Amino acid sequence: MGKLQNKVAIITGGASGIGAATAHLFVSEGAKVVLVDLNEEKGKTLEKEFKDQNAEALFVKANITSEDDVANVFKETIDAFGKVDIVFNNAGIGRVQSSHDLEYSEWRNTVNVDLDGVFLVAREAIREMLKAEGGTIVNTASMYGWIGAPGNAAYNAAKGGVINLTRSLALEYAEKNIRINALCPGFIDTPIIPEESKKQLSAGTPMKRLGKAEEMAKAVLFLASDDSSYMTGNSLTVDGGFTAQ
Ligand SMILES: NC(=O)c1ccc[n+]([C@@H]2O[C@H](COP(=O)([O-])OP(=O)(O)OC[C@H]3O[C@@H](n4cnc5c(N)ncnc54)[C@H](O)[C@@H]3O)[C@@H](O)[C@H]2O)c1
Repeated sequence: MGKLQNKVAIITGGASGIGAATAHLFVSEGAKVVLVDLNEEKGKTLEKEFKDQNAEALFVKANITSEDDVANVFKETIDAFGKVDIVFNNAGIGRVQSSHDLEYSEWRNTVNVDLDGVFLVAREAIREMLKAEGGTIVNTASMYGWIGAPGNAAYNAAKGGVINLTRSLALEYAEKNIRINALCPGFIDTPIIPEESKKQLSAGTPMKRLGKAEEMAKAVLFLASDDSSYMTGNSLTVDGGFTAQ
């Protein structure tokens, strides 16, 4: 039996990169997955791939910065599968830009997706999990939530926010059987990393390579499943040694 047999998992940013790799692993562990993304084409393609394997999957197009879209994700999940056990709160955007040239609108956009959106999804998840008397949430932060890096002010501020949001929510709902942890990836080989940066980022990483989305998925499975049953409020860094430097 899989580690997530009959569990229902919502995965935001589920159409690509870390979210898609996690969806594959969750399905292989017996979960029913709800893929949430702005990218309808990739989301529907993955939904079809899972259904073709006789797995239960649903794609819901949503912008995590919209309260209405987020509420609809949970409504569609309950309509389709009757419950929500796991939320991988993972959708995010990145942008490298010198801070003195960063337009306020760009700052707002990054913080809106990477912090406000994470809050909106977590809030709706907690509402559902309070009714169900339990659940697990995994927020995607970043190793850049722990450390500084030039040209990443908005992203890093948002990701640092996600780490402390995770702690605060975890404490607030620890007695309600809702565990809330975060994943802090290092440089992972997904479409969010520009092709031209990959060589340099690999060279700067102690293990001298980028991480794979599948390696993140294994950490998410750990945080989302009973394997981490005594963990909450934790932010797990999986970064090829980068933040040990
Ligand atoms: N790849 C890395 O090196 C790295 C490192 C640290 C943290 N992260 C974080 O991991 C998460 C996943 O990123 P990834 O590397 O898989 O990148 P990715 O670009 O492959 O996937 C992100 C997905 O999120 C979706 N998305 C973006 N904004 C959205 C919104 N407003 N509403 C709904 N969906 C939206 C995109 O369409 C995309 O499918 C992000 O939060 C990212 O910040 C990635």
